[in-house]
Amino acid sequence: MKILVATEKPFAAAAVNGIREIAQAGGHEVVLLEKYTSADQLMKAVADADALIVRSDKVTKEVVDAAKSLKIVVRAGAGYDNICLDACTQRGIVVMNTPGQNSNAVAELAIAMMIYMSRNCFTPGTGSEIRGKKVGIQAYGNVGRLVAEKAKAMGMEVMAFDPFVDSSAMEAEGVTPASSIEQMYSSCDFISLHIPATPLTRESIGYDLLTRMPAGGCLVNTARKEVINEAELDKALTDRPDLKYITDIAAVHQAELDEKFGKRVFATPKKMGAETAEANINAGLAAARQIVEFFATGCTRFQVNAKK
Ligand code: 3PG
Repeated sequence: MKILVATEKPFAAAAVNGIREIAQAGGHEVVLLEKYTSADQLMKAVADADALIVRSDKVTKEVVDAAKSLKIVVRAGAGYDNICLDACTQRGIVVMNTPGQNSNAVAELAIAMMIYMSRNCFTPGTGSEIRGKKVGIQAYGNVGRLVAEKAKAMGMEVMAFDPFVDSSAMEAEGVTPASSIEQMYSSCDFISLHIPATPLTRESIGYDLLTRMPAGGCLVNTARKEVINEAELDKALTDRPDLKYITDIAAVHQAELDEKFGKRVFATPKKMGAETAEANINAGLAAARQIVEFFATGCTRFQVNAKK
């Protein structure tokens, strides 16, 4: 089978070599499309592929339509909002992610972002420490759990809100379950977002939640820009000159936010949460193994789309 690895943002070389080794051992061929600049290039490359490995690359309906032989798409990572699941389901194409494989890299970045904002974006002047501060984890999944673990090690108090996780599981890990999302925003110095972008979460973080934060509150977004209501974020930052926002996924209107709020906002130039050699290797190799197993045994563990 032909496995296309299409990564606009390339994997580390070690990950690509590992993917090749796993695929070849399973009797498959790997074709690489890196740093491509248009959807046309992806559509051309995927035309005769049986399997596709992507990162945040957009697998739209047009891409799926162009992929005449495609049987499986694996998103080497957690979020699969970049893939048109309906189009894949219609064609009987299996979509999987590789949950947990790049979580540590993202969690480390979330902690780094808290420190960066506490230290005035590494510019001169008196900053503050994160020890003794309280962080609220919004969604206690793979990344949220790791942020909690690291925050506790830094001497922070940790609260979490996740309607899908039992309070007892949080308590067992030394994390205080929030009784409501409002309570969490009202009592935490930092909020670290780990929710996926879904119709339910889209633009769900706005003025009401943000302005509940205590003085000097900082929102840390290593999740998705789509979960933020940008107009309301702008208004919250305007009305509350003490609030801060740091994100790994630049807002649509990031330039305006930068201009208006200076060092109170920061966006990484390109999403870098999962940009570590370790995360690339973990997620890339997991993707290759899942594809090899799928072709060998039909295993659909980690499938995220509906079956036809
Ligand atoms: C994910 O959903 O796994 C992260 O957002 C990482 O995305 P990336 O592979 O594009 O860096």
